[in-house]
Amino acid sequence: IKKIAVFTSGGDAPGMNAAVRAVVRTASYHNLEAFGIYRGYEGMIDGRIKPIAARDVGNIIQRGGTILKTARSMRFKTPEGRKQAYENLKEAGIDALVAIGGDGTFTGAQVFSQEYNIPIVGLPGTIDNDIYGTDYTIGFDTAINTAIEAVDKIRDTADSHSRLFFVEVMGRHSGYIALHTGIGSGAGCIFLPEYDTPLDELVDVLKKANDRDKMFNMVIVAEGNRSGNAMEIANRLNEKYDGYESKVTILGHMQRGGAPSCRDRVLASRLGYHAIEVLLKGESNVALGIINDELCLTPFQEAISQAKKPKSSMLEMARILSM
Ligand code: F6P
Repeated sequence: IKKIAVFTSGGDAPGMNAAVRAVVRTASYHNLEAFGIYRGYEGMIDGRIKPIAARDVGNIIQRGGTILKTARSMRFKTPEGRKQAYENLKEAGIDALVAIGGDGTFTGAQVFSQEYNIPIVGLPGTIDNDIYGTDYTIGFDTAINTAIEAVDKIRDTADSHSRLFFVEVMGRHSGYIALHTGIGSGAGCIFLPEYDTPLDELVDVLKKANDRDKMFNMVIVAEGNRSGNAMEIANRLNEKYDGYESKVTILGHMQRGGAPSCRDRVLASRLGYHAIEVLLKGESNVALGIINDELCLTPFQEAISQAKKPKSSMLEMARILSM
């Protein structure tokens, strides 16, 4: 391997820049030429492949977003798009790829590696933490810290007005952000995509709080919650029971932004460094992760087909602690 290219794809996540920096600098340490592909698979198809030197990635470890930009590519889902992408890589003389992203990014990498003979390693970069083969994904820690900071602020006004608040957090089909935000903010109730929380359970929490003269409560709802989003649950509660003045806040894309936490910077640095090390050892078509503080390699096929979900015992614990 002489020339490697790195790209970010799918939803951006804080810490992606730290990963790019680690990939480029480790490549430079091993005298490899590094290239950046701009806008993920889209840029690969459009030939937006540029050399990137060790000094080019200075002063980015602390920055949110991704300096390489990102995209969700429909064209890469077609054989023609992938063919064009491969031709561009060959023309630039790229020998190996480091893909930073989530499920969709790894799915693209898996298909590409079946069709063309180019080694690829994947780094899990998504705020959702829904990637199998790693305890945590790059960006998750920052996102949950952003979310609890927002929830803490909402709580001040909820407390002052004795209002009930439903706060909706991101995560697509996964409840990790909601579960951690809920536990970390001491929410009264948490709604996740993975487990049922009956509306009556929320009513019970509210009644008990009422009995103790605690008139406000924070409820965290995952956007992919199986029984509806925050607005739907708030409406259902209002239809079924009188007397709860509730407000809904959707945190939205603010959860994706901001400077990465130290944990995310360290995770991204470790994974970016190992990406080059494992490529040089001849590994290919694997996703890298850290499990119990050890590096783990998971074939793309396994990483995309295995579901990862939060522990039900943590939700149970949250129920007990919110009494
Ligand atoms: O995967 C990250 C994520 O932020 C999800 O939590 C969310 O459902 C989705 O991306 C939103 O995607 P987009 O920014 O393309 O609307």
